[in-house]
Amino acid sequence: EEPAAEDLASVRSGQTEVRLHQRAKVMLDQLLAAVDGAGTIIPVSGYRPQTEQQAIWDDTLAEHGSAFTETYVARPGCSEHETGLAVDIVATDNQRLDDTQEQTPETIWLHENCWRFGFILRYPAGKEDVTGIDYESWHYRYVGIEAARYLTEQQLTLDEFWAS
Ligand code: DAL
Ligand code: ZN
Repeated sequence: EEPAAEDLASVRSGQTEVRLHQRAKVMLDQLLAAVDGAGTIIPVSGYRPQTEQQAIWDDTLAEHGSAFTETYVARPGCSEHETGLAVDIVATDNQRLDDTQEQTPETIWLHENCWRFGFILRYPAGKEDVTGIDYESWHYRYVGIEAARYLTEQQLTLDEFWAS
């Protein structure tokens, strides 16, 4: 579901503008304040219109082929970035969206604490068969604190929650 334009709000980030759904933005601001923010972690991608997701899909396909693209990029029209509720967050010192990200102290902290602000790690390791997406240590999804606590405690993905 596409958010209404007035429901989107800018979050503090680097050079590129990152926008999220207002509800997620408020909680991300609190998360950033809790890590004493600005310097240490950085949101790099939030809301994306379907046209942008399509461009990412097309570029990834051209560069890496279909197997890679299908496991790392959601199909245009199906990315939760299009809802404004998903955000990619990385360590300022290592902004790479690859398997070095999970080893940064910032991302380790995020994995342990993001639920307190209503976010879950959406594509965890070991759940690839369930989510259909490879492990993404940087991709968080806002679900609200109560749901985030429950899913984290039960070690459930959103897919398993919806299927139950
Ligand atoms: N990289 C995630 C799966 C997306 O494209 O939404
Ligand atoms: Zn993402």
